[in-house]
Amino acid sequence: MPKSHSPRMKKHLLLLATLSLFLQHCKSTEEAPNPVETASPRVPETADNYLTTLPAHIQTALAGTDNTPTNNLLTNDGAALGRVLFYDKNLSLNRTVSCGSCHKQAASFDDEVALSKGFNNALTTRNSMSLLNVRFYRSGKMFWDERAATLEKQALQPIQNPLEMGLTLAELENRVKSLSYYPALFQKAFGSTTVDSIKIAKALAQFERSLVTYRSKYDRVKQGLETFTAAEARGEQVFLATPGGGGAISCGGCHTPPMFITSAPAGPFAFPLEAGINGQNRFKSGSLRNVGTRKFLFHQGTIPDVNSLFNGQRPVPAHNIPAPDVANMIAFLNTLTDESITQDPKFSDPFN
Ligand code: HEC
Ligand code: HEC
Repeated sequence: MPKSHSPRMKKHLLLLATLSLFLQHCKSTEEAPNPVETASPRVPETADNYLTTLPAHIQTALAGTDNTPTNNLLTNDGAALGRVLFYDKNLSLNRTVSCGSCHKQAASFDDEVALSKGFNNALTTRNSMSLLNVRFYRSGKMFWDERAATLEKQALQPIQNPLEMGLTLAELENRVKSLSYYPALFQKAFGSTTVDSIKIAKALAQFERSLVTYRSKYDRVKQGLETFTAAEARGEQVFLATPGGGGAISCGGCHTPPMFITSAPAGPFAFPLEAGINGQNRFKSGSLRNVGTRKFLFHQGTIPDVNSLFNGQRPVPAHNIPAPDVANMIAFLNTLTDESITQDPKFSDPFN
């Protein structure tokens, strides 16, 4: 028989009971724990159209730079599945973070901080990148230092990153298999309800390749539908012709129109020295489309916005232009903004 509790022990027990009541009370006022299955996504019965007809100046550029592999051609049902996966917070360990948390539609699939928060509030080591026009990066290599060989290979890395989403591939597959809305979406996209990480990566990449901007003022000018102001025209001229300080290459020599993206970053080199591509202290740049509205630029996120770039705040060389042309350059860069991609419902969060 256990000895009955001494008065002193009873006092302790009472204290414990009070404490646990108090803790329970606190808990009830906290946020409810994340349920295993949140709301189902709202997706149209027939998938949206992601196979948009692009204007000629963009279609021509795409023909020479498209990184779509023959085993993962873009389909409407593939991109529609990719959209759901992209915004699904169940793809992170504590179900709080999705790809869309750090690549927000309203922020041109970038975010508005220098470093982003992962599922446990830890910060990423580099600035998030805009996903606009990733399809036009000819080499297909992804991340600032190009460490992912393809968009498909890239897609599984944030999911397994211990700071970002924190799952293993096996956990990822089990999560997706456990959610009731996926079998029908996989059936439509891949002709089978079987889930595996390769298909998850393919669908995510299809959605990302559909993020193409072609409805900016720049595009309307190139189609002969509108004209540049004098400042915008001068800005374009400087962008295309003037060597960017120090080097012999113009802005356009590195950020190639019409998507203002290139696949062969020859530099510039970052200060302070950092490993970068092949350990050579150089970094890629994504598409400059929508850069006029984006916050925190360059791989360290040290430049708050494009206006600050020409204020002597240059973390890398080759970003220097004569003072009288600063306003013209900004006017030109602002013509690259496509407002529709940040609002188009087919790219929006279906869980909202
Ligand atoms: C916690 C924030 C965070 C989450 C979540 C996240 N990303 Fe990112 N993403 C980043 C950061 C930061 C970078 C740049 C990292 C680097 O280069 O080291 C990046 C880079 C990328 C790139 C490279 C773009 C380029 O032009 O090279 C792609 C593509 C991408 N993310 C897609 C995704 C996908 C798909 C998901 C979901 C499966 C995702 N991201 C989840 C923060 C995040
Ligand atoms: C030698 C090639 C080169 C030249 C010339 C060059 N850039 Fe860049 N640019 C880059 C690279 C590479 C990065 C990313 C570097 C990094 O983050 O460390 C970049 C980054 C940028 C960014 C930030 C992009 C982002 O997503 O954060 C802007 C804006 C930009 N460049 C505009 C310009 C303008 C305007 C000019 C002309 C005055 C110019 N660049 C000249 C290679 C170049």
